Amino acid sequence: MIKFENVSLKSLNTFGFDILATELIEIHSEQDIIELYQNGQFNQPYKTIGGGSNLLLTENLSQLVLLNKLLKKELVSETETTVTVHFGAGENWHDAVMYCVDNGWGGIENLSLIPGSVGAAPIQNIGAYGVEIKDTFESLRAFNTKTGQFRRFSNQDCRFGYRDSYFKQHPGEWIICYVSFTLSKNPQTNSSYGDIQQILTEREITSPKIKDISNAVISIRSSKLPDPKDIGNSGSFFKNPVISKSQLSDIQQEYPNIKSFSINETQVKIAAGWLIETAGWKGYKEGNVGVHKNQALVLVHYGGGKGSEIKTLAEKIQHDIYNKFQIHLEFEVNIW
Ligand code: EPU
Repeated sequence: MIKFENVSLKSLNTFGFDILATELIEIHSEQDIIELYQNGQFNQPYKTIGGGSNLLLTENLSQLVLLNKLLKKELVSETETTVTVHFGAGENWHDAVMYCVDNGWGGIENLSLIPGSVGAAPIQNIGAYGVEIKDTFESLRAFNTKTGQFRRFSNQDCRFGYRDSYFKQHPGEWIICYVSFTLSKNPQTNSSYGDIQQILTEREITSPKIKDISNAVISIRSSKLPDPKDIGNSGSFFKNPVISKSQLSDIQQEYPNIKSFSINETQVKIAAGWLIETAGWKGYKEGNVGVHKNQALVLVHYGGGKGSEIKTLAEKIQHDIYNKFQIHLEFEVNIW
């Protein structure tokens, strides 16, 4: 392990906020975690950072911050039709996706270019373009910082929901060490999301391979979503809210073009990006922060600002959307 004191987390959060951590420890192995446990480090509050891509830092951190750097990319077993691959939680998510795509193993190609680490992926049940990680997730191994025991979590144990899991509901209790996925050697591609099909058609690809899907997703994401290297952001800042079909009918009286997706008999998911854009916030700028010009669900930091500015802006948007549509927008991002 490597220990740092009074270190800036600027390069460790994709918003790029210059926040100080009193104590930062990089962990490289399960042995490092065991040592920290034996030294009583987990008797006090601590926080874990993965890729820092779903994180809004608003104040200096006086508690211990762990940086998960457990690395591994390994094929652990295979059948005639599937492979099970094992990744260290500290691996970069997109690199892990590319490793699978380049080997011809299908199932997570629609999740190309999502910023963040492998270990954070199950916490959020990351999803994009018709796929969520719960669809191919096999299991994970995590350390309980209260009991000092390792435990395997199956797909069911993780209680995945929309950008939600058991781990999101139990913060500060588990350190995710390794994550496994079961992928297909004869993949069926999923181009059901409109934008993907449109790109494949433009490229005259009629029988797409997983590499084609991955390339299409990379093109869409690069055109719609700002690259954190250029403009600080954490992807979608809000979740897409779920409302009842009867509430939707009421809203449609005034806004017939509202974008919604049926999720069951009685409920629909609303495109929060549409709500925010329709309320007039798209491209809005205030001080060092704003709402992205191409995707209103993404809040951006132009540099030199503070996390609290993003929080204030997010709350203003929340209030405005509630006043206009009577819909509560929930934050997707974790606020520290
Ligand atoms: N829309 C607007 N205005 C906007 C943005 C979107 O009207 O400013 C409309 C679009 O026209 C479209 C609908 O909203 O009809 C959905 O837009 P999009 O396909 O861009 O997806 P999203 O619902 O805004 C979700 C995820 C993204 C994921 C995309 C693609 C959430 C909170 N966000 O966004 O995930 O990449 O779908 O699958 O579920 C993330 O979680 O950080 C993230 C980027």
